[in-house]
Amino acid sequence: MTGAGSVRSSYSRTAIALHWLIAVLIIGNFAGGLLMGDLLGSADPADKRLGFTIVQLHKSSGLTILVLSLFRLGLRLAAGAPALPAHMTSTERALAKLTHWGFYAIMILVPLSGWVMVSTSPLGFPTLWFGLFEWPHLPLAMNKELSGSASEVHEIMAFAGAGLFVLHVAGALKHHFMDRDDVLSRMIPFLRRGSI
Ligand code: HEM
Ligand code: HEM
Repeated sequence: MTGAGSVRSSYSRTAIALHWLIAVLIIGNFAGGLLMGDLLGSADPADKRLGFTIVQLHKSSGLTILVLSLFRLGLRLAAGAPALPAHMTSTERALAKLTHWGFYAIMILVPLSGWVMVSTSPLGFPTLWFGLFEWPHLPLAMNKELSGSASEVHEIMAFAGAGLFVLHVAGALKHHFMDRDDVLSRMIPFLRRGSI
């Protein structure tokens, strides 16, 4: 991807580790978000209890994603990214840029809207970070409308992220199996052709 300081020849180990850690956490949070809605709506008290546990895990993991993503964005802006392969057309380059920066926006806006939602919710439930300590709410007054709007933004952006995910994975697989370039292997170094 071109952009701020794209002079590297590969991603750093930190960038690769953060990419995969955040990817796993986001996939887990997306699934958890859908599941907890069903459980909380269930008439069975055991399902409801499980739903509340998943909400706490969802919020803990989501806030962790927010912190990691801010750090990762800072790293990306400071260190740049490897240049895209020369064979890519301008449309493909634009699509890659759109997907990557779109992901950065979603990785920050989805958890941030979740944080605004729970901070302004009249229900006032605390967030216990993996049961270890209470994560503070944002210094915002209770506001049902704002909480509702944040919830809508949260849902829409999370589903937009799922759309980007499909595009992103399709792109990564096309690079590897059709173009046969090094784009996937620079994010999964052991795939490098001739590396083992
Ligand atoms: C990248 C991180 C996150 C992802 C991918 C994500 C994804 C989702 C999804 C898919 C839903 C279900 C939406 C629906 O169908 O209604 C959801 C619901 C919810 N999320 Fe998140 N979420 C993330 C972070 C957070 C954070 C940080 C918080 C709060 C601190 C949070 C709080 C909630 C709550 C309270 C709900 C259920 C209520 C509602 O949407 O109205 N989420 N999330
Ligand atoms: C929710 C999950 C994921 C998120 C949020 C995500 C996000 C991102 C972002 C933001 C970048 C741009 C890195 C930068 O230049 O700063 C990136 C690059 C990359 N991702 Fe993902 N990713 C996810 C899952 C995946 C999966 C499942 C694959 C493989 C099938 C993958 C393969 C790649 C590859 C190969 C690159 C490097 C592209 C290049 O060098 O230009 N990603 N990803």
